[in-house]
Amino acid sequence: MTGPASATPRTVWIDPDDAGSVLAIEQRLLPFEYEEVSIRTADAMAEAIADMVVRGAGCIGVSAGYGMYLAALEGRGLRGEEADAHLRRAGATLEASRPTAVNLTWAVQRQLGELIGIDDGDARVAQAREVADTIADEDIAACAAIGRHGLEIIREIHERTGRTVNIMTHCNAGWLAFVSHGTATAPMYAAHDAGIPIHVWVSETRPRNQGARLTAWELGQHGVPHTLIADNSAGHLMQHGQVDMIIVGSDRTTVAGDVANKIGTYMKAVAAKDNGVPFYAALPSSTFDPTIRDGVRDIPIEERDPTEVTNATAWFDGRQIEPRLASPGTNAVNFGFDVTPSRLVTGIISERGVCEAGEASIIALYPEFDGAAPPNA
Ligand code: MRU
Repeated sequence: MTGPASATPRTVWIDPDDAGSVLAIEQRLLPFEYEEVSIRTADAMAEAIADMVVRGAGCIGVSAGYGMYLAALEGRGLRGEEADAHLRRAGATLEASRPTAVNLTWAVQRQLGELIGIDDGDARVAQAREVADTIADEDIAACAAIGRHGLEIIREIHERTGRTVNIMTHCNAGWLAFVSHGTATAPMYAAHDAGIPIHVWVSETRPRNQGARLTAWELGQHGVPHTLIADNSAGHLMQHGQVDMIIVGSDRTTVAGDVANKIGTYMKAVAAKDNGVPFYAALPSSTFDPTIRDGVRDIPIEERDPTEVTNATAWFDGRQIEPRLASPGTNAVNFGFDVTPSRLVTGIISERGVCEAGEASIIALYPEFDGAAPPNA
């Protein structure tokens, strides 16, 4: 497989040779094939997000930012209310492409806040490009800072135990799920680079296997020792003292610290609590939804095509195949995410530092969230 051209690749970026094209890594083929796709319209970007060509909370937020840039390009000739309506329509389509990760809405609203009311088409395009690139650059900086803060937690465990730190993760909150570094993986990369011995338990993450395919590939590329496990092995490993800590990502985190993440995260958090294993969620500020407190009640959970459960997606003989797993005619349901209540979360690793998963601690770190949630939210 040919890999990304740069040693520090991005997941999505404007084609340096063609400003009308946004390039993205085609994540559905990884790790077996590396391909870049060209996306030229806001609608095509919404489709790429819905079909998971690009995926992961941060990455789809940044992709939505670039989708709004494409919308500005498409509407370059429009003025006044027509231009505003065009941008709002594109924003609504992008926001509707996937429901759970709040980064999408956050990026679209940020673009709309900057673009609505700019009458000149060229100025609108220039501003949309600037905002999209800024969102991407901020994402990289936030993930790097998450790495530095999380590194200190891993270092403390290593100094206390004097041995390899065993970290469990779920799904892919790596650089592929952002622009670079990742969130859950950033502390792992930082610890490994600092010479702290770590080993990562990678759960395969049925049904789409982002752990087996993407996280295992990323960690392997970086030289981080890791072992793939079936999702159902997590509790057993914790019971037998094989896990020092868990770090996962998040797709939406409430101001009270409830964490939505890939389906199966909640079960890991329950087992972690039962076994005294610290459970951390690593996330940038764009993943907070400060307007809600009760994640189980209020975070929308994506339901995807049941064939992702009845069938597997596998690589065979140089191509992707979808062999059937379930008995013919079996009914299936496919929830993409679940919510881990704050009581099961030891801490949140964000770009501003580590805090407890509770409203007071989160607001101490992010005072701008204060008052965003109505009293009964
Ligand atoms: O459905 P996906 O692959 O877009 O899911 C998102 C995720 O990879 C996870 O939930 C992840 O842990 C948080 S996103 C950084």
